[in-house]
Amino acid sequence: MNVGTPFIMVIFGATGDLANNKLIPSLFSLYLKKQLPEKFYIIGFARREISASEFANLFANLSKHAKWKKFANHLMYQQGIFENEKGYLELIKTLNTLDEKEGACIMRLFYLATPPINYEAILNFLSSTKLSEGCGQGSTKWTRLIIEKPFGVDLNTSRSLDKKLSTIFEERQIFRVDHYLAKETVQNMLAFRFANGIFEPIWNSNYIDHVQITWAEEKGVANRGEFWEKVGLLRDVAQNHLMQLLAAVAMEQPKSFTKEEVRNVRAQAIKSIICISPNQVKNRVVRAQYQGYRDEAKVAKNSTTETFVAFKFFLDTKRFENVPFYVRAGKMVDKNEVTISVIFKQTCHILFKEYGCPEIGNVLTFNIQPNEGISLRVIAKKPGDKLALSAAMMNFSYKREFGKKVSDAYEKLLLDILRGDQMLFNRSDELDSSWKFITNILEGWKKYPKLYSYNKSSFGPKEANDLILKDGRSWL
Ligand code: BG6
Repeated sequence: MNVGTPFIMVIFGATGDLANNKLIPSLFSLYLKKQLPEKFYIIGFARREISASEFANLFANLSKHAKWKKFANHLMYQQGIFENEKGYLELIKTLNTLDEKEGACIMRLFYLATPPINYEAILNFLSSTKLSEGCGQGSTKWTRLIIEKPFGVDLNTSRSLDKKLSTIFEERQIFRVDHYLAKETVQNMLAFRFANGIFEPIWNSNYIDHVQITWAEEKGVANRGEFWEKVGLLRDVAQNHLMQLLAAVAMEQPKSFTKEEVRNVRAQAIKSIICISPNQVKNRVVRAQYQGYRDEAKVAKNSTTETFVAFKFFLDTKRFENVPFYVRAGKMVDKNEVTISVIFKQTCHILFKEYGCPEIGNVLTFNIQPNEGISLRVIAKKPGDKLALSAAMMNFSYKREFGKKVSDAYEKLLLDILRGDQMLFNRSDELDSSWKFITNILEGWKKYPKLYSYNKSSFGPKEANDLILKDGRSWL
């Protein structure tokens, strides 16, 4: 299917955050860029008793745009309770009417944009009402299912969700979303590593000292307290986004840029993580919560849900043998930043020590956001008649170089869903490996439930610094 083919997207949970902040704005943006087909229908499916026009009015920021009204003609609304068949049966009538109107089977995309707790009920009804079978409720050809993270709450639940999905849909119909895969800067890491011959020979433990991954958000959980309480940072961000950042650094070169080859090397990279055993958690993982979190709406007064984690791990590969990976990630911290830094071994000290050779030498940093780009820290001679050294930065900025704003990852994902391209969607073996890693940490926390506290003018608790300092290194 190309993006010119008509489609119907049913968004379950259409009045929620994801639809409001990402899905509808991205669909609208694609519409403005003329990247959607002429004929398309977006059906919001949610609990609230509202009309289609009230649904369209929920997107207050977008509705000021001159073209919104025209776009809103494509919006429909189906009231329904996820656990009640009625809404699904009414949806079938609407879908059939649209097919009849077009005189064709229109591609049906079912987008699960609800909290994970609702997945089971929705999947059961998609199956029992035969909605999953698409056009005329009898042809799998014309249906796709899009499912958001978190995909389960641990290894077992992830596996059983996967099993359920595979009894209802074929693998080619399932799109498991991790929007970090579609970020321009994450995709560029492959181009950077494999299209520039100079990096591959040094991309290994002979040259790399360690890797740091930083994920920082200034905002707290805001109005997502209810969701967050059940999920926490490890499941919300580490199990998925951070694993994908790791994979971009650690993966081997794919044989070709085809869907399965790229997914193979990605899955292999995540599989190579050596799990932190529950007994090692005490020394290798730091878990913390920001001060004031317990006062957020819909958060328990004695909540022990984490909003920050830091951990250290290794990979079981020849390339990264004994190279530590340090990760820190937190909400309500002192900056907004997602970066991956590859810190190379410092080699200049023997010859240049007396000239002020800095302790840290070359560092290659991928700025995933907000200032998308790549920077290389080099050692340079300070101007002057005496030999003295200092660190200097070589910077590549997307904005400066290519001039245009990097598009939102959701636009890329939505286009890929329309095209049926699954390359940037998770395969279940990737999820299985990442859940193994995360579930070991969760098990460890049962034994060592220590929860540190931090305030928003810092990047996590002091213990996160100690985690790396005890190895004689520090966060950049
Ligand atoms: C989502 C998480 O997957 O990613 C949020 O659930 C987080 O908690 C968001 O804020 C961050 O996405 P981005 O694209 O802004 O880095």
